[in-house]
Order: sequence, then C-alpha cells, then structure tokens
Amino acid sequence: MVHQSSILDKEHAELLEQLEDASLKNNGVSELFKEMHSKFLVHLAKENETILPLLSYVKAVSDGKVIGEDQNYINAGEKFRKDYDKMVSEHRKMRDLIGKVEEKLKVHPNAQLSRLVGFLLEHIELEEEFLYPSARMAAKTIRLEHELKGMAVR
Ligand SMILES: [Fe+2]
Ligand SMILES: [Fe+2]
Repeated sequence: MVHQSSILDKEHAELLEQLEDASLKNNGVSELFKEMHSKFLVHLAKENETILPLLSYVKAVSDGKVIGEDQNYINAGEKFRKDYDKMVSEHRKMRDLIGKVEEKLKVHPNAQLSRLVGFLLEHIELEEEFLYPSARMAAKTIRLEHELKGMAVR
C-alpha cells in the first residue's frame, strides 16, 4: 500500500511553496493567492494534527503492525471528529478562491497559475473523496478500540 501520509506531506510542502510564490509575484491575482496561502497554512496545521497521523495509523495496520493503545492516535482521531466540519468548510472557501482566480485567468491567461489552482483543486478532491473518509474510518476504529478496552478493564 502506498504510504498516503508521506505523499500528502510532500504535496502540502509543494503547494505551500507555490502558493507563497504566486502570492509574492506581480501577477494581478497575488491578493487572492495571498488569501489562499494564509488559509492553507491554518488548514494545514489541522491536517498535520489529524489526517496525517490517522493515515499513518491506516498504513501501520495495513502493514500488519500491532498497535497498542496510543494516545497520539486517540488525540488525532478526537481532534478530527471535532474539526471535521470546519476543515470541510475551509475546503469550500478555498474552492471559492480558486473560482475567483479562474475567472481572472480567463481575462489574463497564465498557464503556470492555472496549473497551480488545478493542482490545489485536485489536492482538495483527493482529500475529500479518499483521504478524509479513510481518516474518519481510522478515527472510528481507534475510538471503538479505546472504548472496548475501557469496558474490558471495568
Ligand atoms: Fe491538504
Ligand atoms: Fe485539505
């Protein structure tokens, strides 16, 4: 199984760098990229604490590793449950910004910037269609195991 968390990590680093670049250039849409970059930073911090560890958990399980009670995974799962709606709405806001950039690029085409917003959109889609559901499932499993363990101790 491909290690999703490391792919995600790499994509985040690339996106962050490119968004920052685009926000610093005099390209007519730098203000929009500035906003996207700062939203992305806030959003990224949440993903680093939630889906990244949860996807590492999925990887460890699929590699057949025995995972005992691990507070880091429990915390990641609980934080993801708490932040999920907010994180999805941050994606929605980024999609709105992407739409605004695309409108401007229709008037002043820029292949590099079009590629960048396309990359960001694909990233969001990959997360929502595949990675967020995997992380959500992992969070449920972790919580269930934690609860079952608590019952066994009682
Ligand atoms: Fe992301
Ligand atoms: Fe995201």
